Amino acid sequence: MTNKKRDMSWISQPWRSSLHRKTNHILVKVIVSIFLIGISYRLLFSRYGSGEKLLAPTTEILGRNSTDEGKCNLCNGVWMPNPSGPAYTNLTCRFIEDHQNCLMNGRPDRGYLHWGWKPYQCDLPPFDPYLFLDAMQNKNWAFIGDSILRNQIQSFLCLLSKAEEPVELYHSSDFKSRQWQFQKHNLTVSLIWTPFLVRADIFEDENGVSDAPIQLHLDSLDQSWAGTYPKFDYVVISGGQWFLKHAVYRENNSIVGCHYCPNKTYAELGYEFSYRKTLELVFRHITNLVGKDIPVVIFRTWTPSHFENGQWFDGGICNRTAPYKEGEFNGSNVDQVMREIELREFEKAKKVMESSGKSNFLKLLDTYQLAVMRPDGHVGSYRRFHKDKKGKVQYDCLHWCVPGPIDAWNDIIMEMVLK
Ligand SMILES: *[C@@H]1O[C@H](CO)[C@@H](O)[C@H](O)[C@H]1NC(C)=O
Ligand SMILES: *[C@@H]1O[C@H](CO)[C@@H](O)[C@H](O)[C@H]1NC(C)=O
Ligand SMILES: *[C@@H]1O[C@H](CO)[C@@H](O)[C@H](O)[C@H]1NC(C)=O
Ligand SMILES: *[C@@H]1O[C@H](CO)[C@@H](O)[C@H](O)[C@H]1NC(C)=O
Ligand SMILES: *[C@@H]1O[C@H](CO)[C@@H](O)[C@H](O)[C@H]1NC(C)=O
Ligand SMILES: *[C@@H]1O[C@H](CO)[C@@H](O)[C@H](O)[C@H]1NC(C)=O
Ligand SMILES: *[C@@H]1O[C@H](CO)[C@@H](O)[C@H](O)[C@H]1NC(C)=O
Repeated sequence: MTNKKRDMSWISQPWRSSLHRKTNHILVKVIVSIFLIGISYRLLFSRYGSGEKLLAPTTEILGRNSTDEGKCNLCNGVWMPNPSGPAYTNLTCRFIEDHQNCLMNGRPDRGYLHWGWKPYQCDLPPFDPYLFLDAMQNKNWAFIGDSILRNQIQSFLCLLSKAEEPVELYHSSDFKSRQWQFQKHNLTVSLIWTPFLVRADIFEDENGVSDAPIQLHLDSLDQSWAGTYPKFDYVVISGGQWFLKHAVYRENNSIVGCHYCPNKTYAELGYEFSYRKTLELVFRHITNLVGKDIPVVIFRTWTPSHFENGQWFDGGICNRTAPYKEGEFNGSNVDQVMREIELREFEKAKKVMESSGKSNFLKLLDTYQLAVMRPDGHVGSYRRFHKDKKGKVQYDCLHWCVPGPIDAWNDIIMEMVLK
């Protein structure tokens, strides 16, 4: 039962002092917590980013050889100038959502499109849609996670649609879960929206504002993916930013604690607790299933954000136009802590897979280093539906422009699965 001080600080800095001054004033606390809940709900529903530059990075995590790609670690490298630019444009691809279509939304600079990822020990070939589709005949892919995975799948579809346009088979009413098929190749690609991966009761109105905290069931997986999981051949899965939100944690149906607790009845356990528990459960599900037809699981790591001069809700911006140099920025403390949890849980799971001779069925897509060096690749102010109450444009320094640096994540996927 730890009470981590920084738990409050990533989002509530402006209100923290008032919370502390009036600790006896329950009404104020309730109002403030409801306000915070509302804000945190808008966070990803409205595709606002979260972020903070609180503490200097502490751990040396970037240089670690954390994938299993033999001699060359595809995720360990640098961004190099790439004059030829992206493989598709907003005119040739129709799968770019408006909020991530930076060119359509008036982004004037183009420099961010002219960088290529160069692993230290090898070259990363560009995504070859013909090769990929031929290799993926009759296969079933799933992307399982939150809006950043939805961001990634736009790039994935754009890269593939140069060779074949998929047709949509399904979408949920809110378009968060979808399914496409490349019919000539009988390749099906599903997007399953499950921001916590575990079962979560989320209460909110149409604007994403809620007056009750999320109830997270840390002992049971979200069946929207866990139930159908064995039918897939390839699964890209990631957790993330939603764990930073207000939530009440439940196990075996009883409350075990919370994050931003509504009152002192419960223990403040923090997002590290819930994220670790969740990943343990996710990886247990993956490693328990060691039959003949298990999917290849590609676990994608934490996505750092790049807000400067504030947070997403109080004027934070990201207007850089070039990547960071090596070592110039390693992510916020929260980013690093969450990634460490992922790496530790992944490595545990990898050992289990190795011991059953299935280590090729679990792969790490460690996009952290690729992402942390690209403050210039975010949507920033070039998106839609994102003014605050005063009509001021809020920046999104969490999601990525499409096309943009997120394309390299899919180049790596292709290299990983076709090797
Ligand atoms: C980032 O990490 C590298 C490698 O550990 C280190 O050399 C560098 O000083 C760090 N950068 C910052 C800004 O802390
Ligand atoms: C990472 O891999 C490189 C090249 O294979 C090797 O020289 C280096 O020692 C490795 N670093 C760590 C920390 O394992
Ligand atoms: C594509 O981007 C250009 C700017 O480069 C913009 O003028 C145009 O409206 C965009 N078109 C679409 C369909 O997104
Ligand atoms: C398409 O692929 C699925 C497996 O993903 C397979 O069951 C089905 O028979 C295939 N259809 C055709 C027409 O080959
Ligand atoms: C869950 O609750 C049931 C009924 O209260 C109890 O029998 C069971 O042992 C509990 N399981 C765990 C894992 O705590
Ligand atoms: C605090 O938690 C208790 C126990 O669930 C609940 O009965 C009470 O209404 C809560 N108070 C506030 C102010 O949220
Ligand atoms: C980014 O915004 C800051 C603050 O408005 C401004 O001072 C700076 O010049 C901007 N940088 C670029 C590259 O536009």
